[in-house]
Amino acid sequence: MSNATSGGPGRIAGNGAVTARAPAKVNVHLGVGPLRADGFHELQTVFLAVSLFDTVTVRPGDGLSLTVRGEGAASGRGPASVPSDRRNLVWQAAELLARHAGVRADAGLEVDKSIPAAAGLAGGSADAAATLVALDALWNTHATRGDLATLAAQLGSDVPFSLLGGVALGTGRGEQLSPVLARRRWDWALGIAGEGLSTPTVYAELDSLRATGTLPAGDAAAPTEPVITALRSGPPAALAAALSNDLQAPALRLRPDLRRALRAATDAGARAALISGSGPTVAALADDEQSAVRLAAELAGAGVFRTVRAVHGPVPGARLVG
Ligand code: C5P
Repeated sequence: MSNATSGGPGRIAGNGAVTARAPAKVNVHLGVGPLRADGFHELQTVFLAVSLFDTVTVRPGDGLSLTVRGEGAASGRGPASVPSDRRNLVWQAAELLARHAGVRADAGLEVDKSIPAAAGLAGGSADAAATLVALDALWNTHATRGDLATLAAQLGSDVPFSLLGGVALGTGRGEQLSPVLARRRWDWALGIAGEGLSTPTVYAELDSLRATGTLPAGDAAAPTEPVITALRSGPPAALAAALSNDLQAPALRLRPDLRRALRAATDAGARAALISGSGPTVAALADDEQSAVRLAAELAGAGVFRTVRAVHGPVPGARLVG
């Protein structure tokens, strides 16, 4: 079955450039099970793609080169933390797709970041997913969405969701996805507080809290139905009551100041607030777009966040633009 991406020569601009964008995500449910032998944890998670996008532009080149601009870039906003060499997932995505397609890894890669790095928003995963989609078009690899999803899973646990977007239940280490149909739009204010948090460090803190009995042992089978039912049709109070994240407690242990950030969000009128993924982003749920904009403005003035954004979801996964 051919389910080729919407790439191809028709999307290539006069100067040979192709641009794709991919969204950030919030985990509205993140149930973390036991540590597996391969170093990953068994998950039951519900992903929601939200309207904060990174874009990746690729051009014909000789070998690979990479430029990073915006949030987390050496020359951009926020702490410089995004490498512009082969340590970047974008570079690895290019090499992986070239190997898969049997082509030379020749391209100039340019990443424009709006999604803060190490924030629990899958920014690096979004960049990798957008790179796969853009290079598939530039190199004319005719990869199917299925092929790209397989490559995405090799790059990182969240990359397949960055490719898919929308709402999805994630199992395994988060890479096995079942799409969920959500009939309504959800509005949020995202508050990005201070320095980033390392995902492995947050998972390790959870393991140690569980090992010492400070937290109960993980149960990956925690129910996801309440959050999925609420996401499908609301009301906001039902989603607010169903939000949960097992990584919140370890993130708060590592960054106690985040308690104040969560409190600031509920004080400012959020329906509920939780840490997104491994943090430190605070995702504050609002009733509608107007409330989210008001909430974001209030949080921006609260002095606890470096950046605040009003976003909504679900939005599509990695797509060509232009
Ligand atoms: O898959 P990804 O490279 O994004 O994962 C980064 C790190 O997060 C892993 O090396 C692991 O320490 C942790 N992780 C985990 N269980 C998962 C996903 C990630 O322990 N399901």
